Amino acid sequence: MSKPKGLFIDKELTTYIRDWMSSKENRETYLPPPPENQPDNMRSKNFWKEDFDQIRYVGIDVDAIEEIDHIILDHYGLDRDTPLDEFGYMVSWQSEGKEVTPHRDANRKGKINVRFNFMIQKPTKGGLPIISGETLGVEENEVWLCLAGLNLHGTTKIEGEKDRIMISIGHYVDEEIVKKKGWMHPDCKPIEENPMWNRSSVFDEDKFYPYASKMQTQNLRNNTVNDVISDEELMKMVSEYYSRETTEERKNELGIALGYIKPQIEEDE
Ligand SMILES: [Fe+2]
Repeated sequence: MSKPKGLFIDKELTTYIRDWMSSKENRETYLPPPPENQPDNMRSKNFWKEDFDQIRYVGIDVDAIEEIDHIILDHYGLDRDTPLDEFGYMVSWQSEGKEVTPHRDANRKGKINVRFNFMIQKPTKGGLPIISGETLGVEENEVWLCLAGLNLHGTTKIEGEKDRIMISIGHYVDEEIVKKKGWMHPDCKPIEENPMWNRSSVFDEDKFYPYASKMQTQNLRNNTVNDVISDEELMKMVSEYYSRETTEERKNELGIALGYIKPQIEEDE
């Protein structure tokens, strides 16, 4: 287990949010419910600056979150006007049994999806980040950097009754800046995302990073591959999917790409 270089967020800034998130009534009133047939062990809310008034109204301390964002950006030497990513600011609550399957989040061409996460309430056991196969032994309120668009990331399973409450802030950071900071290999190149390899595939992360155009992201979310690959490629995938020689693992990969199987994309860290 490795230790990140610690930036600790003052508890004065996070206690109010932690208490708000600890209230079952708040969560059930204001946070979207889990998808049907899924256990209610994860609730979260994503928001951006334009939602601040609405989020403040339900009682979440957005001013503290904005202040924390500035502290983080200053600490990591990033401009305060670095744009938020597609998940923006996020507060989340997770309980016993919850774990996040390793995945990547979407980059844009020339912009890397970088998230800054910290637990404002750490479970007794589990709920630790796993990045590129390595578990990070973070403390409560200790920020860890997650190159969400580059490295496979997930979490260990939460055990015990103490829930996990976290704040996650994501930005699109220019590729050049990410390279200058030594967070990615200087030769790493952008390659347009393809449904056959993207969010959970294994490839050489030093050689290239996948990026999704806005159109592709929409297509992938709607589980269609039209406009992303040619008809010929599509036919090949369909026949491979139905072939008896195809392994279960490959079939699952193809099924997701073809939209036959709902992909297990955990967009929550
Ligand atoms: Fe993620």
